[in-house]
Amino acid sequence: MKFFVDTADVNDIRELNDTGLLDGVTTNPSLIKKSGRDFLEVVEEIAGIVDGPVSAETVALDHVTMLKEGRKLAAIADNIAVKVPLTIDGLKTCKALASDGVMVNVTLCFSANQALLAAKAGAAFISPFVGRHDDVGFDGMALIEDIRTIYDNYAFDTEILVASVRHPVHVLEAALIGADVATIPADVIRKLANHPLTDKGLEGFLKDWAATGQKIL
Ligand code: G3P
Repeated sequence: MKFFVDTADVNDIRELNDTGLLDGVTTNPSLIKKSGRDFLEVVEEIAGIVDGPVSAETVALDHVTMLKEGRKLAAIADNIAVKVPLTIDGLKTCKALASDGVMVNVTLCFSANQALLAAKAGAAFISPFVGRHDDVGFDGMALIEDIRTIYDNYAFDTEILVASVRHPVHVLEAALIGADVATIPADVIRKLANHPLTDKGLEGFLKDWAATGQKIL
């Protein structure tokens, strides 16, 4: 499963990219606001930090303007994935951009039928929001399972990009289902490596090693 980080904070992106574990980045208008940065500038900077796809979201609601925005965003760098909302205008724009060879990430997906439409529109990625689904009493991961089944039934190339990830169990369940990508907040990525028994075991090994009085270097 590919790991994207869900942030526009370039410090977090640089730190995680240096681990070699990062496969891409997703942003959205709320994350851009949180960064306090100029949108086009920070997206260009992020696209220069990571090799993988960097999602940058359009903000128009109509197809004509959304398409112009998408083409402008795609021109920033070869690894830009243009994000469009799961609306009829978003799907029309996805179809047009995809036919131009542009990577499109269709976002704000909350049903399997929506995901089916995005695949038919040629999306490179579909972003079902599991955390927000859970927040209103639905099972976000059941949605991922349904999309996985549908995409496998028809061999769609669209990659399932699990979004609105809130904790390590979302990542685990996404991997067990066979999602292609999870876009994960930086602090959740860091939590994935943590386990108290690992810490305890390492402490014990180093204590016993110290008792040998030996050195490797
Ligand atoms: O990429 C979508 C993600 O940023 C939304 O997350 O926690 O605002 O639902 P959240």
